[in-house]
Amino acid sequence: MKIGRLILPFLAAVIAVAGLAAVHPAFADDDGKRGAGGGAVPENAAYKQECSSCHFLYMPGFLPGRSWEAIIKGSDKHFGENLGLDDKAKEELSAFLTANAAEKSGLEWSPKILKGIGADTPGRITEVPYIKKEHGKIKAAVFKRPAIGSFSNCGACHPKGGQGGFDEDAVSIPK
Ligand code: HEC
Ligand code: HEC
Repeated sequence: MKIGRLILPFLAAVIAVAGLAAVHPAFADDDGKRGAGGGAVPENAAYKQECSSCHFLYMPGFLPGRSWEAIIKGSDKHFGENLGLDDKAKEELSAFLTANAAEKSGLEWSPKILKGIGADTPGRITEVPYIKKEHGKIKAAVFKRPAIGSFSNCGACHPKGGQGGFDEDAVSIPK
């Protein structure tokens, strides 16, 4: 009967957790609504794990869903790298990225990004007309500074970018 005594508290814990999970969607819904302006990259373990080891964890809201789908579909030839994603990972990443893409993100910049793109499917955020225009005054030599490296390295000049802080007053260009 020793086992029975162990199982009962365990069952109670399982029921408690199941109860929390049943309530959770209501909270998740509130968290998911971001007001106009910023908002961090939405939490997603697979996105963080697969997409942040080589570069800045880009905002899903900075590209349309069809661009993210194309990026994931072509992930075996990703800018010269094979990301080695299996079908399950591809499905999960595609679903996360399209659910938070420019059409759905609620970020202040997303409508401007979409407007300039029209029917195109940009493969890079740095090719998006609105993003190019916002950085038009920065000289090519600045992007090549050792502390920056390239235009794609958003976090070098937007230290709060990962939390949605792309506003002009939060910009700091490394010397
Ligand atoms: C093995 C390294 C590596 C991993 C992992 C990786 N990338 Fe990349 N990614 C690159 C390289 C290299 C570039 C080109 C960067 C450059 O031109 O400076 C790039 C560029 C990009 C760009 C374009 C950036 C721009 O210039 O606007 C996007 C978007 C992107 N990656 C998304 C992803 C996503 C989504 C994942 C996860 C599925 C991912 N990356 C994982 C290596 C990687
Ligand atoms: C060399 C530094 C540098 C890099 C790298 C850089 N930015 Fe910027 N970014 C700036 C500066 C400076 C501005 C402000 C331009 C101005 O004066 O209007 C800016 C403006 C912006 C804005 C407009 C903010 C607003 O509300 O007015 C967005 C969005 C943005 N950057 C996103 C990005 C993304 C995404 C990347 C990476 C793909 C990136 N930036 C890479 C320096 C940089």
